[in-house]
Amino acid sequence: MTDFETILVETRGRVGWITLNRPEALNALNSQVMRDVVAAAEEFDADDSIGAIVVTGSERAFAAGADIKEMADKTGLEMVMGDHFGAWGRFAAVRTPVIAAVSGYALGGGCELAMMCDIILAADTAQFGQPEINLAVIPGMGGTQRLIRAVGYYKAAELVLTGRIMKADEAERAGLVSRVVPASDLLDEAHKTAEIIAAKSLPSVYAAKAALDAAMETSLAEGLRFERHVFASLFDTADQKEGMAAFREKRSPDFTHR
Ligand code: CAA
Repeated sequence: MTDFETILVETRGRVGWITLNRPEALNALNSQVMRDVVAAAEEFDADDSIGAIVVTGSERAFAAGADIKEMADKTGLEMVMGDHFGAWGRFAAVRTPVIAAVSGYALGGGCELAMMCDIILAADTAQFGQPEINLAVIPGMGGTQRLIRAVGYYKAAELVLTGRIMKADEAERAGLVSRVVPASDLLDEAHKTAEIIAAKSLPSVYAAKAALDAAMETSLAEGLRFERHVFASLFDTADQKEGMAAFREKRSPDFTHR
């Protein structure tokens, strides 16, 4: 794995870990963080021996947003021509499931980064919000689009228009968070969840993520068609034969990810 400036990267078994590491800026997401996270995620994604990725920050902050100091003096033209947040789309597009393990602040781009992941595990200390309106801007890494899909229009509108920050329990009730755990258990729980996913057959995991993604983007009829095709295509994998044989023979499957 490449060396990175702003993140720590580690492989534990079949799980790839990305830890945001700009403590001096509460893990604010500057362009270098974007480049590092995208490159690390794509390296893990290209590696068949990785079946799940965890993204986390520090106890105090998952990420306190896009880097305000980096953006403050830019013009609109510079934001457009530099495609300021564009590469995040490549992070959201990795096929490997990504778990966000969120402790402390997940604000602005931090909340948006969590929402690019497939599962959001939150410490009971986590706080989520889209406070960009306080800076006279709006969310720019997907907040207005993904938050509505997660929590519905009225909750999203209140958060985006007022900049109010919500705590982990409210975020869980609203459907933004998969599960809240005690802060001291967060990383263990994230690893356990990632290991469960990484032990499944990789082609079926890629397929499940692609079908879930389709549900966010297409009509029900198109999504159902996509699901049926992808479901059928899995019957050409060795792992499907192994999984169903193991069921009939009352034993654990031995997947080869093929
Ligand atoms: N960008 C750049 N630096 C940041 C930052 C950010 N988003 N958030 C925190 N920091 C820096 C602070 O400037 C400070 O650095 P200095 O010590 O050099 O001054 C350091 O991190 C520690 O922060 P605080 O002293 O402010 O810590 P606090 O505990 O008093 O407050 C906080 C914590 C409430 C999270 C506060 O830091 C804060 O409000 N941060 C900004 C949150 C925000 O507005 N996020 C949205 C950013 S815009 C965006 O994300 C656009 C988008 O959609 C992509």
